[in-house]
Amino acid sequence: CGIVGYIGMKKAIPVLLNGLSKLEYRGYDSAGIAINEDGRLRVEKCKGRLSSLEERLKTEKLDGVMGIGHTRWATHGEPNDINSHPHISQSGEIAVVHNGIIENYIQLKEFLAENGYVFKSDTDTEVVAHLVEYYYKGDLLEAVMKVIDEIEGSYALGVLCKDDSDMFVCARKDSPLVIGLGNGENFIASDIPAILEYTRDIYILEDKEVAVLTKDSVKVFNSLGAPVKKEIFKVDWDVEAAEKGGFEHFMMKEMYEEPKVIRDTFNPRVKNGELVLDNINITKEDIEKLQKIHIVACGTAYHAGVVGKYIIEKLCRISVEVDVASEFRYRDPLITDKELTIIISQSGETLDTLFALREAKKKGSRIVSIVNVVGSSIARSSDDVLYTWAGPEIAVASTKAYNTQLTALYLIALDFGLKKGTISKQEADEILSSLREIPSGIEAILEDKESIQKFAHRHYNAKSIFFIGRSLDYALSMEGSLKLKEISYIHSEAYAGGELKHGTIALIEKGTLVVCPMTQDALFDKMVSNIREVKARGAVVLAITQNRHKEELEKTTDLVLTIPDVDSLVSPVLAVTPLQLFAYYMALEKGCDVDKPRNLAKSVTVE
Ligand code: G6P
Repeated sequence: CGIVGYIGMKKAIPVLLNGLSKLEYRGYDSAGIAINEDGRLRVEKCKGRLSSLEERLKTEKLDGVMGIGHTRWATHGEPNDINSHPHISQSGEIAVVHNGIIENYIQLKEFLAENGYVFKSDTDTEVVAHLVEYYYKGDLLEAVMKVIDEIEGSYALGVLCKDDSDMFVCARKDSPLVIGLGNGENFIASDIPAILEYTRDIYILEDKEVAVLTKDSVKVFNSLGAPVKKEIFKVDWDVEAAEKGGFEHFMMKEMYEEPKVIRDTFNPRVKNGELVLDNINITKEDIEKLQKIHIVACGTAYHAGVVGKYIIEKLCRISVEVDVASEFRYRDPLITDKELTIIISQSGETLDTLFALREAKKKGSRIVSIVNVVGSSIARSSDDVLYTWAGPEIAVASTKAYNTQLTALYLIALDFGLKKGTISKQEADEILSSLREIPSGIEAILEDKESIQKFAHRHYNAKSIFFIGRSLDYALSMEGSLKLKEISYIHSEAYAGGELKHGTIALIEKGTLVVCPMTQDALFDKMVSNIREVKARGAVVLAITQNRHKEELEKTTDLVLTIPDVDSLVSPVLAVTPLQLFAYYMALEKGCDVDKPRNLAKSVTVE
């Protein structure tokens, strides 16, 4: 979910709607706002996209200069008008927007019910509204402090009170919240793009901090009520970075940014041929002691981690375990202080990933993170951070962030390999020069995107699509398949080329589309055999390979998409782009909402 809040001299509604429009990537099941208009609380909320709320607000005259807003990704209770935020307390005095999950809401609900509170919604958030009212004795801050003492789970909260038309309160734990500092106005938001148009001066709230905002002041307190002196974080990227800039979709714009952001991630870390990994302070001795590396992440970042396993094991000869964060945390992972955990996250706020990080840390592991958002919770909880400089990624389906996560993983693998002595300087230089070629390779792929569009036009009615690959191409297949599922809703599975025959090949029938990344020279012939196996069962095969293999593959497949001649070891950074384009065009052909696929949210701050 995304939350936003405003207090100042402007009318609050346009500021809130504008902010919410930048947060819709966090959820779009419903939207709502609450305004304090000179001591009257006005609430409007409805199911559906923000545009439905905007439509409804057109007929309402709401002039208040302070308010809170919410865009929802449903957790407790189906997406309907009643379950939409803001939630209002029994007497209508308190309005609350919330991102996160209140885990003990059932106990709290029972307690409140015993005290005469009647619940209207199925949400966990409604207990917060009633509980604030229960504790409110004329001091909103005091009431919110009491509430956060009682609630368990995760939250970013914005709380308005009817009696306080010149202030509101916010708080956070395990869900992101920033405060924007303006001139005669102040803001809260789940993420910076929502308020970047108005200010670049930000306070990042820490867990269990509570803040009181008036139009002229922001006061932050810790959970004991003591004032906290916050440092201002200055945002140095532009508003345009979070705008569509002439592209039909953010996803396409973000694919077009891949060459630049890979360069931004790579170039500053390779100075005069030497690796300089800014914040990674791991020494030769540290590496030599390492017995194992864990990589933990979710979604696309997890798929980047699978590539990381292959390359770190190859270049550093250290065993690597990759886990999805939600599994890692609860399997009581075996970790010693001779192990290192690499955490990957675009947003730096994914709750599953953050909790996995804490689990690893608790067990004594050092944490290196690969994160895109500066100052995010994961970045701040890590021992060493290597930022991916992908800029804001708005489309829910991740594209450019993945390319930069891979770039960062190669840099780490090279750094560790050189320190450990498992690769020579010459080998490292060769890999670095292959990586340097990638941005121009992606430019060439984007230039030729129409060939992928044409292919998508012929196949968008497919019911089920398989991706098969070996080694790094298997890791890549997982990401290609996820991209397709996420935005086109076509069922898809990624299989290791050699594993398909052990069961899943039963699903291949006449006309089934099988996409085969074939960038691993050493396994090329093995993949050709796997292609023959599916062709023999009637599959239609799309191969994606380097120019050098085009001719040979044309004999065995239905269509060959080529990528520039890149070394097999670094190919995923380049070969993912045609897979992203494929997913994009399939979704477009099907008329899907490419940037905001159903049921998904970009930043998932619940478990
Ligand atoms: C969500 C998004 C995915 C993303 C994953 C991890 O599920 O829908 O696209 O890959 O979270 O996000 P992170 O910000 O941690 O990379």
